[in-house]
Formats: sequence, structure tokens, C-alpha cells
Amino acid sequence: MNIEVFPTPELLAEAAVELFRQVGERSVFERGKFCVALSGGETPRMTYELLAKAKFSQEFWSKVRFFWGDERGVPETDPRSNYGQARASLLDHIPVRADQIHPIHFSVDMEEAALSYEKELRGLFPSAGPSFDLTFLGLGSDGHTASLFPTDSTWQNSSRWVVPAENSVREMSRVSLTPGILNHSRVIAFLVSGESKAEKVKQICFGADHLNSPNLLPAQWIKPDTGELFWYLDQAAAAGKS
Ligand code: 6PG
Repeated sequence: MNIEVFPTPELLAEAAVELFRQVGERSVFERGKFCVALSGGETPRMTYELLAKAKFSQEFWSKVRFFWGDERGVPETDPRSNYGQARASLLDHIPVRADQIHPIHFSVDMEEAALSYEKELRGLFPSAGPSFDLTFLGLGSDGHTASLFPTDSTWQNSSRWVVPAENSVREMSRVSLTPGILNHSRVIAFLVSGESKAEKVKQICFGADHLNSPNLLPAQWIKPDTGELFWYLDQAAAAGKS
């Protein structure tokens, strides 16, 4: 677990852009493409906006494939849509074709949306081999990541790659990728900012006993099979570091 603490959210976002560049250029060199799974929520917005301004060649962008770690059950025009947010902050500002973008399609039937996305992913990635070259994830103040919530157990010990998130607390239905595919990523980077996350970050990253309770802290299910795991924290989120 590579933990890096940055003085400000801006420096965290700049580091995330640099990680994107390093992993992306290596992936394109080695395999001719770069598959990246984006996170939703507010934290990555600054990173996406910086990526839109970064100096990447049209050739590089043409090799990138965009996926999502989870999606909310709202149309892409809804401001809560993770896909819609990525479109507004990044995708609408870079030279990418529609076939490079793989959103989780909104459906009133989230089981249908989950099955459809899993079919798409299984058509692209081997069942036991690497999945995404880079996965960005966030951390909720309750310890969730993607849409894997502490009160849900439907996805634990499941062989499914994509599941509807059964979380009654949530004001909207969701679909989430599971550790089964997320942990096949070559590189996973949590981007975590703000004091509201400090307690869970402390338990996950700095706890003396490293509270190992994935049921309470779903982010602890994220352990790359063979890949690298990074925690990019700003000072506020790392406040629990002794
Ligand atoms: C989502 C995200 C979710 C998010 C965390 C942190 O769809 O909500 O995938 O896992 O990363 O809830 O959200 P913030 O960055 O807004 O704090």
C-alpha cells in the first residue's frame, strides 16, 4: 500500500494526473491501449479538469478506453451521474471517439444494467487476467468505495463483476463493480480529500491494528491481485496519521 500525502487537494490532483500519464504511456507502449476506470463523486473532478487541460497528444487520447467503477441510477443529464460528470469535466474536452467510452448505461432496472455491463466487460477482459490498467477510486465517509456500501453484503464472496447496489440508505439506486474485477487492475489509486474522510482513512491506512473489517470498511476489499495500490491523500484526509 503506497500512501502519499499532499499538502492540498490541488497537489493531489496534479499527482493523479501524473500517475495517469505514467500508467497510460506505459500501457500504450506495452499493449497499444490504456483502459482506465473512473470514479464518481466530487473528489476526482479537479483531476479530470486538469487532465482535460494536460498536454497529451491526439495519438495518445486515441488509445484510451474509459470505464466506470460505479454509476448512479439517474440519466446522464442528471448532475449526480458519474458519466455525466466525467463528460462535463473531461470527455467533452478531449479528442475521443464514442467507441472509446464505456459508460454503465442508465436503466430503471439496475439488475439489467449490471448484467449488461458485466457482459461488456467479460467480452473485453479475460476472466482471470488483468482488467483495467488504472482504476481511480474514492472513499466515502462511511468507508464505502465505488458503490460497495458497508450495509450491503450481496456482492461479498460473489463471482459477479458488476452488481446492483442494494443500499436502502441511498437516495438512489446504483450499480457497482465488485472487488472481483477491480482487484484485477494493474494499478489502483484511491483519491481521498477532506477531513470528513480522516477517520476511515486512519482505520484503513494508519490504524495501529489496521482494523481489518472489510464488512464495515468495504474499501479494504480492494487489494490488487498482482497490481499496485496507491492512496493519494490530502493533508485533511490524512489527519489521523500519527
Ligand atoms: C460515487 C463514487 C463513490 C465516491 C465516494 C466519495 O458514485 O459516489 O463512486 O464511491 O467515490 O462516495 O465521494 P466524494 O468524492 O464526493 O467525497
